[in-house]
Amino acid sequence: MKTKMHFLKHYISTDARQTLRSIIYTPQRFIDLLINYFYDIKFYLRHSSTLQFFNSEKQLNSWIDADAHKLEKGLALPQPRSGFGEGVATRLVREIDTFINRFGASRSVDTAIMMLGVYQKFNLDHGVCYTHLFADIDRLKKRVNLNEELAGCDIISKRDWLASAEHDLTDFFRSRRSIRDFSDSPVLKVDIEKAIMMAINTPTVCNRQAVKAHIFLTPATVSAVLNCQSGNGGFGNRVKAVAVITVDRQCFFTAGERNQCWIDGGLFSMSFIYALHSLGLGSCCLNWSATKRQDQKLRQVIAIEDSEAVIMMVAIGHLKNTFKVAKSARKPAEEFLTFENIKKP
Ligand SMILES: Cc1cc2nc3c(=O)[nH]c(=O)nc-3n(C[C@H](O)[C@H](O)[C@H](O)COP(=O)(O)O)c2cc1C
Repeated sequence: MKTKMHFLKHYISTDARQTLRSIIYTPQRFIDLLINYFYDIKFYLRHSSTLQFFNSEKQLNSWIDADAHKLEKGLALPQPRSGFGEGVATRLVREIDTFINRFGASRSVDTAIMMLGVYQKFNLDHGVCYTHLFADIDRLKKRVNLNEELAGCDIISKRDWLASAEHDLTDFFRSRRSIRDFSDSPVLKVDIEKAIMMAINTPTVCNRQAVKAHIFLTPATVSAVLNCQSGNGGFGNRVKAVAVITVDRQCFFTAGERNQCWIDGGLFSMSFIYALHSLGLGSCCLNWSATKRQDQKLRQVIAIEDSEAVIMMVAIGHLKNTFKVAKSARKPAEEFLTFENIKKP
């Protein structure tokens, strides 16, 4: 072994040699890592459209959402360029036609057609006419009742914006803590629905909205779900509801988007948790940094699509009159922050 390492010294960097040494001394960990990476790759390849185009309804819907969003984003720029986006609009028409031929109608299709109508109007108002493209848009527009409220962009006054946005939320943010001891009151469906109504305002990549919250409210389903998760020991029996947050891999297109599920799902989860907090409910994130085996176990218990990646769980319940929370002291704010952290040339 020593001679081998000595031989490698000349060809491989110190970092790479250290990694190799770790692999040789702890091969099982390395094999576990590979198995779990392959598990993730298998799901991403099977369900995202990285290698396959327009195979499923959801994949195509997401392309339509993303391209419609590119046009609406273009219109929301400070000075949209007249004539912009012809390529995207032409592709969007093709995607909509394919979708209609294969699957019929969808909300995304209707919204995208409305978006194309707004895009066409903008260009005509600016003296640009793409004859073939606009004939196609006219043909598609006959399919929907145009409601320009749903597409394009809004003009908002700073005064109106600040009237709803300008609140000091320091106390609100500080007062949210992970709760691990809930009262006996059941969690009502209506409260979950209210929290979700708030959380759906979370941004998602290209507005693709691939997130889903699977809610369990009855003691039997809550305990079946919590049995698949290892971080609720000692308090799982106090949890009154649990949300399993998932994101659909079918909404992602490229190698670069391989981790997007966890970004969109994480952002949504945080909004959901703050929404619950604003409604007076307590919650605790439950980790889903799961191995293949744990993931397979959960999939035998809950009825989620094969394409959904589980992001995390959230334990939910009502507050007791007094309750304990872990202090979970924070590092100083400066440690979360850098300014102008750029490499010197
Ligand atoms: C993604 C994620 C997973 C977590 N998983 C667990 C868990 O499995 N069990 C648990 O008791 N707490 C869990 N927590 C809660 C953290 O321990 C907690 O957020 C942290 O200590 C900060 O405390 P606070 O939430 O009270 O501010 C998790 C938090 C996050 C963000």
